[in-house]
Amino acid sequence: MAIKKIIAIASAKGGVGKSSITAAIALNMAKTSKVGILDADIYGPNQHILFNIEHLKPKVILKKDKKYLEPVVTKDIAINSMGFLLDETKVAIWRGPMLSGAIRQLMNSTLWGDLDYLFVDMPPGTGDAYLTVASEIKPDFALLVTTANKLAVHDIQKSIILFNKLDIKMMGFIGNNIANIQETNDFGSIKELGISHISSIPFNLDIYNSNLDNLPSCFDDISKSIEELV
Ligand SMILES: Nc1ncnc2c1ncn2[C@@H]1O[C@H](COP(=O)(O)OP(=O)(O)O)[C@@H](O)[C@H]1O
Ligand SMILES: [Mg+2]
Repeated sequence: MAIKKIIAIASAKGGVGKSSITAAIALNMAKTSKVGILDADIYGPNQHILFNIEHLKPKVILKKDKKYLEPVVTKDIAINSMGFLLDETKVAIWRGPMLSGAIRQLMNSTLWGDLDYLFVDMPPGTGDAYLTVASEIKPDFALLVTTANKLAVHDIQKSIILFNKLDIKMMGFIGNNIANIQETNDFGSIKELGISHISSIPFNLDIYNSNLDNLPSCFDDISKSIEELV
C-alpha cells in the first residue's frame, strides 16, 4: 500500500469551493491516475454527498483484531469520509481531541491501496484539524483555494502563514468563481507572498448544482499543473 503524493486542498475561509474543486480535480485526474479523497472536514463532510454515495459505507475488515476500512470506490476514486461513518448531528459537538482522533483514524485505518494522488478535502479554518493533518497525514503539498472576494483574499494570508509554519509546501492557489479578468488582478497580495496563481475557475452552473460530469476545461489545465508541480 503506497500513496505517492498527498495534496491538501485548503482555505481558511469556508464556502470558497474547496470540496467542489477537490471532487472535480479528483474526477479529472482519475482518468489517467489512481486517485483517492480523504474528507478531512469532520464537522461538515461533503464528499459523500457530492458523489451521491451517502447510502454507501466503507467495508470493515478485521486484521489481527484491528479494524480497517475499505474506502468506498466510485468513478474510480477511493473515498473515505466521516460522512459514511457517523451521525453528523453527534459529531457537531465534538471537542478538539475527538476531532483530531477522527482524522487520524480515517487516515490510518483506511486501506487506501496504491494511489498516485490522495486529495485531502480540508475544513475551513486554521485550527486543530490543520495541526492534525500536518502531523498525521503529512501532505506533500497544500493547494490553496480562494475567491476574488476581499475577505477570502484576506483570509488566505492566514493559510499561507500556517502552512509556512507547518513546513508544508504550497503548490499555489486557485481562484474560484471568477467572473472576469479584472477579478484576477485582486490576487496581487497573494502573489506578493510568493504563492503562484495556478488557474481560475469561472462560476459554473454544473458545479453549482453539484453535477461534476461535465467539467469546464480549466480542470484539464489544473490537472496538468498538478502533475508538473508534484
Ligand atoms: N466554480 C463554481 N461555480 C458555481 N458554484 C460553485 C463553484 N465553486 C463552488 N460553488 C458552490 O459554492 C458552494 C460552496 O462550495 P464548497 O465546495 O462547499 O466550498 P467549501 O468546501 O470551501 O466550503 C457550493 O454550493 C458549491 O456548489
Ligand atoms: Mg468543504
